[in-house]
Amino acid sequence: MSFDAVDVIRTKRDRGELSDGQIDWVIDAYTKGEVADEQMSALAMAILLNGMNRREIARWTAAMIASGERMDFGKLSRPTADKHSTGGVGDKITLPLAPLVAACGVAVPQLSGRGLGHTGGTLDKLESIPGWRASLSNDELMRQLEEVGAVICAAGDGLAPADKKLYALRDVTGTVEAIPLIASSIMSKKIAEGTGALVLDVKVGSGAFMKDLADARELAETMVALGTDAGVKTVALLTDMSVPLGLTAGNALEVRESVEVLAGGGPADVVELTVALAREMLAAAGVEADPAEKLRDGTAMDVWRAMIAAQGGDPSAELPIAPEQHVVPAPATGVLSKLDALAVGVAAWRLGAGRARKEDPVSPVAGVEMHAKPGDQVTEGQPLLTLHTDDPTRIERALESLTDATEVADSYEPGPLIIDRISP
Ligand code: URA
Repeated sequence: MSFDAVDVIRTKRDRGELSDGQIDWVIDAYTKGEVADEQMSALAMAILLNGMNRREIARWTAAMIASGERMDFGKLSRPTADKHSTGGVGDKITLPLAPLVAACGVAVPQLSGRGLGHTGGTLDKLESIPGWRASLSNDELMRQLEEVGAVICAAGDGLAPADKKLYALRDVTGTVEAIPLIASSIMSKKIAEGTGALVLDVKVGSGAFMKDLADARELAETMVALGTDAGVKTVALLTDMSVPLGLTAGNALEVRESVEVLAGGGPADVVELTVALAREMLAAAGVEADPAEKLRDGTAMDVWRAMIAAQGGDPSAELPIAPEQHVVPAPATGVLSKLDALAVGVAAWRLGAGRARKEDPVSPVAGVEMHAKPGDQVTEGQPLLTLHTDDPTRIERALESLTDATEVADSYEPGPLIIDRISP
């Protein structure tokens, strides 16, 4: 059945409900180029302003899945579980998490993206390891999942091509922030990927997409419902992103910190979240194991080394180090009471760790190293941050973004990292 794009836009503009037929048609016609970008932009804006109900979101997601291929991990000898984070500053959790969960007996197909804006991309981080490559064929992906148990690689173009086109359009039309469109975008890719279980890490705070707890909760509930209805065991954690995760933001810096976690050390918040997400993934996949033990006994590190080597990387290679470093001292003596995630993310980005356009290169060495976290005692003049870059002309702009990033007080009690858990 054929519809008229202008009628579909008018339906949503006038706060109506889109029918299943309208949704199937508009996604298919847009993917084929029969609905123009300006028409889809108008529809996306109408959705941003007027929303969609649960039925419309589920149908929109199904239509985006149907625009491409669906992978099937049913022939693997172990269950699969994946994790998706809505993105944050210093969020390197995928790096220790994928080998950790694989070490516990669950296969982890982590199809990832590159960073855009102030949040770093998992593939950009791993590409700071000499020799490592992000692209795998579907056969290589399956073989590595069976033999190593964990894969972090680039999502192929075949998964949800409608989303790829629509996300690029939303990026330039001010329509990224619509909860129905974010939920369907993320879940169409994850359901098409074919994972049996999915744990969502929905970030809340200055460094996240969702600045507000109520919005983050709505996004999490929408995604959990979409996954559950599609037969994927899905749960979500709402986690704090007002402060960066760990003590590093930047590509090679974050790989180094992840390896520390796999070696049984690393910052407490990174360890806490890695273990909590691993427990959720194992429970959703129906496997009993203690992930904390697998970090302690070195088996997660063994899987990490095998996972990096299987994709051409040298897990023993020295990671690159920035030639230029600039120390920011603590402004006063007391307790650090603020370390703003967005400001640190923007600084890392300006130092060269992130990209403004998707074709821009990133620097493997650039980023921000933090020497204290909120709640820690600091002394005036001690190093608080170290800025890393290969281009000293970038330091001034990075410092500008950090002007109001930190505060020191007499006392400060940080809030919880894991704020809530959303299950079906
Ligand atoms: N990530 C996605 O994949 N899609 C969105 O819409 C937002 C974040």
